[in-house]
Amino acid sequence: MVMKNIIAVILAAGKGVRMKSNLSKVLHNLCGQPLIYYVLREVKKAGIKQVIAIVGQENEGIKRVVANSFQKIDFVQQKEPLGTAHALRQARGELKKEDDVLVLPGDVPLITADSLKRLISVHIKQNNSCTSISSYLPNPYSYGRIIRVNGKIIKIKEEKDASFDEKKIKEVNSGIYLFNSEHLFNALSRVLPANKKKEYYLTDVISLFTQQGLKIDSVSIPENEILGVNGRQDLSRAQKIMQGRVLERIFEKGVSIIDPATTYISEEVKVGSDTIIYPSTFIEGKINIGRGCRIGPFAHIRGDCSVGNNVVIGNFVEIVRCKIGTNCCIKHHSYLGDCLLEKDVNVGAGTITANYDGKRKSKTIVKQGAFIGSGTILVAPAKIGKEAITGAGSVVLKNKNVKNGEVVAGVPAQSIKKSK
Ligand code: UD1
Ligand code: CA
Repeated sequence: MVMKNIIAVILAAGKGVRMKSNLSKVLHNLCGQPLIYYVLREVKKAGIKQVIAIVGQENEGIKRVVANSFQKIDFVQQKEPLGTAHALRQARGELKKEDDVLVLPGDVPLITADSLKRLISVHIKQNNSCTSISSYLPNPYSYGRIIRVNGKIIKIKEEKDASFDEKKIKEVNSGIYLFNSEHLFNALSRVLPANKKKEYYLTDVISLFTQQGLKIDSVSIPENEILGVNGRQDLSRAQKIMQGRVLERIFEKGVSIIDPATTYISEEVKVGSDTIIYPSTFIEGKINIGRGCRIGPFAHIRGDCSVGNNVVIGNFVEIVRCKIGTNCCIKHHSYLGDCLLEKDVNVGAGTITANYDGKRKSKTIVKQGAFIGSGTILVAPAKIGKEAITGAGSVVLKNKNVKNGEVVAGVPAQSIKKSK
């Protein structure tokens, strides 16, 4: 097999009209990451070293989000979104004719590196000019259809331009292809906006290849990898599939998830074995949860958090940007923001940290073995010493430093016992 240099080009300059959003389509959130993050991740996993992203004038924000997220990305601007062929044409200056070009839309977050590797190996083995990824869908609506004659791909027809019979074809275009660069750019320069949308369609390259007698083939993959996110329904469908994959990975670590249907866990979350996650729990961000914990039901953990082993985070507890030590127990109706809890801390029901004064967020430190009485308000910054106790309903004022072993109570909390 001749190994050519493969360069990925990600198309992300479209307006994303169907999302009806001010945010660029590929930046919409899927399990805690922008759509395009997953495309970049799988491209990297498939061993592609060079990536070019085509971005529009209005979605420069993409640069900030993805620059250096996985590997160095070169950005090329498409000034006006005149269609997928026009978008890809903008990359011409960046590519050599001996390269192979892997094209991916930025809105196909469910594609996997395994499928990309299969695409690459078929393309190289068969020495094709174009190998595309297709899928058979029971409901192919809205996708471009793969038109074959005697089993050979001859063109791709977009939904809007397809005839009644063509619309019945179940094999659809994923928008992912591997091209011989020279053949691609030759054909791209001949694509015309001769369709209902008056756009330059990348899919027209296929019929131009057919006319030239160039070799075209496809690999077919499951439906749940090719889903293109165009509107909000697509986004929620993709969310469900991606969530399933994230939970799969967590199950594999020896974690019980009582009700996957009501458990939302974002992509970066890590959970240790023998932890049980109860229903209606939402965990989003860079979060590490230890072994043997009990989380939920109705728990919300977000921001960057680390939770030690054997911790209980119970009903209606919200935890944000906290570090929580081993054996801590925060069982009911509490809000902890920007806290450091050392080990063996018991947080009584209804404890609230007042961590935001309207201008800045401040930290609360609770030392080992402290006991926070029910309904305590901790006005940050505050420090509760080792084995100290706050009485039920105490309000611990800002900058208060409760000493080791001290017992405080009341509003504002006063010392009622200096140490044990
Ligand atoms: C495209 C394919 C269709 C395929 C589907 C798979 C074409 C003409 N159609 O349709 O056959 O079934 O993907 O999901 O290619 N973009 C630009 N600049 C533009 C227009 C689009 O960069 O001028 C980008 C978009 O940001 C998007 C990608 O190209 O990431 C695909 O564009 P989109 O409008 O979503 O194409 P589809 O209608 O889904
Ligand atoms: Ca699309």
